[in-house]
Amino acid sequence: MPFPSDTTPDTVLFDLIDQEVQRQVTGLQLIASENFTSPSVMRAVGSVLTNKYAEGYPGKRYYGGNLVVDEIESLAIERVKRIFGADHANVQPHSGANANMCAYQAILQQGDTVLGLSLDHGGHLTHGSPVNASGKLYHFVAYKVAPGDERIDMDQVRDLALQHRPKLIVAGTTSYTRRLDPAAFKSIADEVGALFMFDAAHIAGLIAGGQHPNPVPYADIVTFTTHKTLRGPRGGCILSKAEYAAAIDKAVFPGWQGGPLEHVIAGKAVAFHEALQPSFQTYAAQIVKNASALAEALVQQGFRLVSGGTDIHMMVVDLRPFDADLTGKDAQAVLDLGGITLNKNSIPDDPRSPFVTSGVRIGTPSVTTQGMKEPQMVQIAELIARVLRHRGDPAAVAQAKADVAALCAQFPAYS
Ligand SMILES: Cc1ncc(COP(=O)(O)O)c(C=O)c1O
Repeated sequence: MPFPSDTTPDTVLFDLIDQEVQRQVTGLQLIASENFTSPSVMRAVGSVLTNKYAEGYPGKRYYGGNLVVDEIESLAIERVKRIFGADHANVQPHSGANANMCAYQAILQQGDTVLGLSLDHGGHLTHGSPVNASGKLYHFVAYKVAPGDERIDMDQVRDLALQHRPKLIVAGTTSYTRRLDPAAFKSIADEVGALFMFDAAHIAGLIAGGQHPNPVPYADIVTFTTHKTLRGPRGGCILSKAEYAAAIDKAVFPGWQGGPLEHVIAGKAVAFHEALQPSFQTYAAQIVKNASALAEALVQQGFRLVSGGTDIHMMVVDLRPFDADLTGKDAQAVLDLGGITLNKNSIPDDPRSPFVTSGVRIGTPSVTTQGMKEPQMVQIAELIARVLRHRGDPAAVAQAKADVAALCAQFPAYS
C-alpha cells in the first residue's frame, strides 16, 4: 500500500528542510555546541531502526525482534567504552540533559547536596539552576570563576566542599573556555568523601581526539552529548565505573526514559567508529588550533575574551571594549543577518540580563569540519567585526553576507 506522502508529497516540510540546508551551507556556523555530522551518521539516524521498540537492554528486552538491534546497541557500547577506556556505558539517554538527570537519580537522594559550576559563570542548567529539575530535586551549591583571571578557582571549590560536604561534585561546563583538571576535582572529592561526576558534553570529541585530559580514570560517572565536538547524532551517553553500572541502567530505563531511540543509537555507533579513526585526532587538534587563531584575531579586532583566551573549541567574547552599547542579543541578531550564526552569552557577573547579555560565545567545531584552518579564522574575525561595526548599514551587512557565502562555498560541509 502506498504511503500518503507517496501520492501527496509533503512539499511544505521538505521545502523548509531545503531552506535549512541552504542556511547551514551558505553561512558560518559558529555555535560552539553544534557540528556537521557525517552522511553516514545521518543515514543511520534516518534508517528503519526508527520503527523498532526495544525497551530494556541488549539480551533483556521487553519486546521481540531485537536480535539485530541488540547487536547495534552492543556495538555502540563496545566502541564508546574503547574510546574512553570506561568500565560501563549506557548509550540510551535521549540528550545530555537526560544523561545528567539519570546520573543524579542513580547516585543521589532528593535533597542531597551537590557542588556545581554556576550557570552564569559557564555551568549548565542541569548543574542546579533553580529553573531546572536538578535545582528543584537536589540542593546545589555553586562554585564560580575567580573575579581576576575568570578561571575556576580550585581553592574555592575545595573550601566550598569542606564547608558543605556535598554528596557529589560536578565538573563540566557549557561556556567555560579553559581545560578542566579532573585529577584536582577527584582529589577534592576524595578529601570530603564525595562522588565525582564529569559532564563532558562539550568536550567529548576533544577528549576522544586527545586534546583534553580524559576524566574517565578519575570520575565515578562521566556524561556527555554525542552531537557537539564528537560530531555524532543529537543524544547523550553515560560512562561509569562498574560499581554504578546497574544503578545507571536502572535510572535511564525505567527511571527516566521509555523505549530507546535505536536509530539514534546506530548513529552514535557510527560517530564512535569515526572518532576511533586516526583522522579524528587530526580533526580535534585542528578545532583547538582554529579556536586559538580565531581568539587571537578577535583580540586584534578590539574584542576582549573572557579569561583572556581559550584552550578548547570555544571562546566567550566580552563585547563591551569593542562597543559599550552593543549587547549580545543585538550582536547575535545582526550577525544572523550577515550569515554568521552564534549565540549571545553572559559574561561572568554580567550587568545585563541573560536574555540580553554583554557577550557572545563562538566555537570552531563546524568550520573545522568544513576544512577551514587558521587563515580562514582571521577572515572570520574580520567579518564578525565588520558586521558589528556597520550594524546600522544594511548594504554593508548584505555585502558581508555575500562574502560569508563566498568563503563557505570554498569549504563545503557536504559535497
Ligand atoms: C555541559 C552541558 N551539559 C549538558 C548539556 C545538555 O545537552 P542537551 O542539550 O543534549 O540536553 C549541555 C548542552 O549544551 C551542556 O553544555
